[in-house]
Amino acid sequence: MNAGIIGVGRYLPEKVVTNSDLEKIMDTSDEWIRTRTGIEERRICSDDVNSSEMAYEAAMKALENANVSAEQIDMIVVATVTPDQPFPSIACMIQDKLGAKKAAAMDVSAACSGFMYGIVTGKQFIESGSYKYVLVVGVEKLSKITNWDDRNTAVLFGDGAGAVVLGPVSEGRGILAFELGADGSGGKHLYQEKEFITMNGREVYKFAVRQMGESSVNVLEKAGLSKEDVDFLIPHQANIRIMESARQRLELPVEKMSKTIHKYGNTSSASIPISIVEEVEAGKIKDDDVIVLVGFGGGLTWGAIALRW
Ligand code: ACO
Repeated sequence: MNAGIIGVGRYLPEKVVTNSDLEKIMDTSDEWIRTRTGIEERRICSDDVNSSEMAYEAAMKALENANVSAEQIDMIVVATVTPDQPFPSIACMIQDKLGAKKAAAMDVSAACSGFMYGIVTGKQFIESGSYKYVLVVGVEKLSKITNWDDRNTAVLFGDGAGAVVLGPVSEGRGILAFELGADGSGGKHLYQEKEFITMNGREVYKFAVRQMGESSVNVLEKAGLSKEDVDFLIPHQANIRIMESARQRLELPVEKMSKTIHKYGNTSSASIPISIVEEVEAGKIKDDDVIVLVGFGGGLTWGAIALRW
């Protein structure tokens, strides 16, 4: 039995913060941010909205889109580094709110790769025959751990949530192959210290360029596919230059890579599911398309998935 994505949903806060807005509160410029990162604006949620609320909104839409009821969900996996509190998990909070009474529920922590870890976890339960439907959510309220006095990091991040329902799909479709990895020795380059994100941008950049390219190629090989088979690449939206390097490694034309970073910035574990929804709604992902998802993040961690839609 193959597991695949059978429904998608997302939530983005309404408030838009542009690069020019940031120019007013820190020593930066629209030109610097655009050329170094590709970001033009990001969404920031209000103080009274937490990750659990954004996760709930995205999850509701994914269930509706999948035509699966909350009662049918067997498991909820939420990827986040910005939970409302250490426990109970966001997964438990939305399990209650959704009314997903029979669902097991847990959060996973793998920073920006968290959604990939979540999908691969869900896939195991479905393909082993243990569960039928798994809800996987990536959600972040990075604004609450952003140091607005640190221009090196503050310009990069945004808030939001994306969700998918995983379920059984026909032979040859769904998740074809995956690669997950971690290098804990690189944890010192990207971490949360006290309340804020701390980052060695250049080290993370070098790691990301290498890993995104390698993992994309590896996952295709594992799936028995070649670069020519790829219809669409959905990379973690951290920096347009990092994304471009992955695209070039797969020798794909610009129009075959998802780009949402200019609108939403880096939303960590939410960036890949938010981008999936963007492309589904734009009609760019069609039945039977081969799609590569690839991400990296704090830990350091990484993950790639090849799937047939
Ligand atoms: N505005 C203006 N100038 C800035 C800003 C800013 N916002 N930020 C840094 N600068 C300055 C620096 O101080 C530096 O000045 P100096 O040369 O006088 O010291 C100069 O710009 C160049 O800085 P670099 O660090 O060399 O810039 P670089 O080209 O490497 O780009 C960036 C920096 C965008 C952070 C890049 O390194 C990057 O994208 N790294 C990866 C980040 C990433 O993906 N992180 C993932 C985090 S996700 C998670 O897990 C939550």
